[in-house]
Amino acid sequence: MTEIRERVCDERRAALWAALLSWYDANKRDLPWRRSDDPYAVWISESMLQQTRVETVIPYFRRFMERFPTVGSLAEADVDEVLARWSGLGYYSRARRLHAAAAQLLELHEGEFPRDRAAAEALPGVGAYTAGAVLSIAYDLEEPLIDGNVQRVLARWFHVEGLVSRAATRRELEGLAEALVRGVGDPASWNQALMELGATICLPREPRCGGCPVEAFCEARAQGAEHAVPVLPRRPAPIDVELELFLVEEGGRVLLQRRGTGDRMAGLWELPTRELASGTPRLFPAELELTLLAREELGELRHTITRHKITAKVHKAVLGDSELPPRCAWFAGAELSGLGLTGMTKKALTLGRGRSL
Ligand code: ADE
Repeated sequence: MTEIRERVCDERRAALWAALLSWYDANKRDLPWRRSDDPYAVWISESMLQQTRVETVIPYFRRFMERFPTVGSLAEADVDEVLARWSGLGYYSRARRLHAAAAQLLELHEGEFPRDRAAAEALPGVGAYTAGAVLSIAYDLEEPLIDGNVQRVLARWFHVEGLVSRAATRRELEGLAEALVRGVGDPASWNQALMELGATICLPREPRCGGCPVEAFCEARAQGAEHAVPVLPRRPAPIDVELELFLVEEGGRVLLQRRGTGDRMAGLWELPTRELASGTPRLFPAELELTLLAREELGELRHTITRHKITAKVHKAVLGDSELPPRCAWFAGAELSGLGLTGMTKKALTLGRGRSL
């Protein structure tokens, strides 16, 4: 820690604060969750923003807040409806945990997001990042946060050369984030300014150092090392997956299959699916137990889930069995928008039916 104090001396801190906060004030994006300091709204938006881009999150956030405007409305909702509102954002365990955490907030905290970091981190789905975000943005508490953007900004400012997945490097970055937020006075703006700089200027591949308000304080830049840090773990190789999706329609209704409890995206609905390529981990274990009388290819789509690069052929098909296969049900077109559909199913339905959901 002494070392951190030397690196983040008072003078440097004050200069960084002034430069970054005035840049943020003039340049911040007008995002819907920035219009509110309601801890519930901040918590929902920050949960959505983990692993998902700002532009993608905006319409989801609006619709979610319209349907579940309070902790109570979220806790009381059926988890299937929460999944339906989340449908397309991916990482569905986030939605399940939000729902479970809303119930805990009512039970243990009178419906209020706790102001205490340990109590916040005890909630399902709330880790160090989300706790830091809600505490600083909603409650103006001088609590640090680190996401991928902040990690990059700090690693460049302080020329942190260690592999960021190592515990020692993580501790170093946490120490820097903490030393910078303590005493800042406006932690809500400070933490968001760090993220904003990372999202718009201090970009991973092509940092826009010429337009950076804190270029003069950047140690990596001074050493020409802005492309060399942060040092990220090597990405696992992508896995190609080939699927066939079957659009079975009868009397205006569509046949869907629900993903089993042990699966990824458990409980969501999808078109009956068959995996073609073998030798890959089975991303979609939904075994196809349909007898298809006829099929006609409607088109092909591409979809990525984490490292799985999916190519899926969508077929129009006719069901031969008189009995419904396991976990299958018919849904009228009007019911589809209220269902928890996987993102790929939404794409396939749009492709197959020629209109979007
Ligand atoms: N990414 C995640 N949360 C953010 C926020 N509050 N502002 C900017 N980028 C973000």
